[in-house]
Amino acid sequence: MCGIVGYIGTKKATPILIDGLLKLEYRGYDSAGISTLEGTGISNIKETGRVKNLSESAGISDLSGTIGIAHTRWATHGKPSRENSHPHLDNSKTFAVVHNGIIENYSELRKFLTDNGYTFYSQTDTEVIPNLIHYYYSKDEKDDSEKFLRAVRTACNDLKGSYAISVISKLYPDEMIVSRKDSPLVIGLGNNENYIASDIPAILSYTKDIYLLDDYDIAELHNNSISFFDKNLNKIEKAAKNIEWDASSVEKDGFDDYMIKEIYEQPRTIRETISSHLKKDEPCEFPELNITKEYLSGINKIFFVACGTAMHAGLASRNTFEKLLSIPTEVDIASEFRYRNPLIDEKTLMVFISQSGETADTLAALALAKQKGAKTVAVSNVIGSSITREADYTVYTHAGPEIAVASTKAYTSQVVLLNILAIHFAEILGSYDATKLNTFKNEILELPEKVKSLLDNTDTIKKFATDIHNEHDIFFLGRGFDYPVALEASLKLKEISYIHSDAYAAGELKHGPIALIEDGITVIGTITDPNLKDKTISNIQEVITRGAKTFIVTNQDIKKENYNFVFDIPETNPLVSPILSIVPLQLLSYYVAKDKGLDVDKPRNLAKSVTVE
Ligand code: F6R
Repeated sequence: MCGIVGYIGTKKATPILIDGLLKLEYRGYDSAGISTLEGTGISNIKETGRVKNLSESAGISDLSGTIGIAHTRWATHGKPSRENSHPHLDNSKTFAVVHNGIIENYSELRKFLTDNGYTFYSQTDTEVIPNLIHYYYSKDEKDDSEKFLRAVRTACNDLKGSYAISVISKLYPDEMIVSRKDSPLVIGLGNNENYIASDIPAILSYTKDIYLLDDYDIAELHNNSISFFDKNLNKIEKAAKNIEWDASSVEKDGFDDYMIKEIYEQPRTIRETISSHLKKDEPCEFPELNITKEYLSGINKIFFVACGTAMHAGLASRNTFEKLLSIPTEVDIASEFRYRNPLIDEKTLMVFISQSGETADTLAALALAKQKGAKTVAVSNVIGSSITREADYTVYTHAGPEIAVASTKAYTSQVVLLNILAIHFAEILGSYDATKLNTFKNEILELPEKVKSLLDNTDTIKKFATDIHNEHDIFFLGRGFDYPVALEASLKLKEISYIHSDAYAAGELKHGPIALIEDGITVIGTITDPNLKDKTISNIQEVITRGAKTFIVTNQDIKKENYNFVFDIPETNPLVSPILSIVPLQLLSYYVAKDKGLDVDKPRNLAKSVTVE
């Protein structure tokens, strides 16, 4: 959702800040703003709409300050407007603040400040922060070098809710203060310059040495130093982490959009995810997990909890866990999970799947699981994200930064990783035939090549996309392992093409949805499980009889002449077929959206990481 970038150094801050904001555009936003220190004051420029509007705004090219903060806002309190966009200044224009998160007690704080003579010019929760800082700064009689830091700390102590903030002040022309609680913030170490950002991709082309802040940590940045303090302003030490992500991974590399680039990256991202845990003829390895045979033998349930595509990755992997481990495995939507008093205890293994690691509902579900004493594992793509700090253990997908709002490469990495995790547990428990397990491992090792072969052959998909791009309703069907694929394909299509679509377990069709099938309607089916093939074919026959136009993704021997379009995928173990069958359907949504002339990377109303519940 909102994005933060900051720079302190010797170069002109504005181009670096604008570049960082552009790298964060994928998160979704509706306005953008920038503050730099210029001479003896703070310059503050904001625009609604795209970062491009801000970069072309009057006066922006005159900014020459070498310290600045910038922000992309996704409206929560107050409509998208210049007044409501960040940075926000206090009444005396001494402090400028950018903020991600939500201040839950902002009405109380606003009242307190209004009673003390402050005026508010926006409807945001954020505007209380610079004014509170000013309030505490002016009340502090001690005039030492920590006065600015102290004012920010004391103001933060009053905030309830979540925040990642960065503050600059005209009184401190070579200093920036940052702090966080429940919202991400990283600091990038440079050479005689330092950076801050809500997300690593914003600053990856400047530095790969990143400090991660813990909740309530506060940091004081200068050109050539960074000092860290805890909640009580005791100095603490932190070590920078070197981030392996390649700076070019946040560029489009000649592709038209990030989404298509990320779809084409999948052979590599799947390979990298596999190779971290699985090598030919060796037991799987998860050194980051300390899960013993004794523990696994004692658990009564495994639970996957996540949202959206990540939840579909859980659905696509559940059967593997049940088959290899014979342990009941459930999947739930994070926003529902905690409101149904879930039956979990210390014998439940809870797996939370989140690409960004910042999804508010998933984090809240994780907190509940911990309260109930369950062991928690995070599956995340972002090093140091909130979920990785909260869970007992973390395993990382190695998908690299995913910029397009619609998740593609993160999904396939999640499904691959979860399948390998199931094998790892089966090896610990000895719960599945070793020879069959070995064959399954070899099939996983072949996946990158198989995905590559799919991507080399996209003509049918492009043709079919053009054929359907003006439609209003599309149905996806699948049974067994093909059902989560139908759900995920349908989600992908609606989020980027804005075509209404529904996904059904093929056997459910005649219990209601078949009433919607009429002449010419498009039905997309996936058939990859030999045991369910005949049944799915019968269900698809039922829609053909009622006039449906069909597109089938399959690796089974079917009578192709019965369908309008057929896309062949390589054979594989049905347990991992969702990794192959989703790829042509990702491409289908991409080409449909392109045919409609839509912005595939930034679909309307959506944000890349959903940090509100
Ligand atoms: C869909 C999509 C979303 C996310 C969901 C969870 O393409 O990207 O449905 O999967 O918002 O996000 P994470 O995985 O970051 O928790």
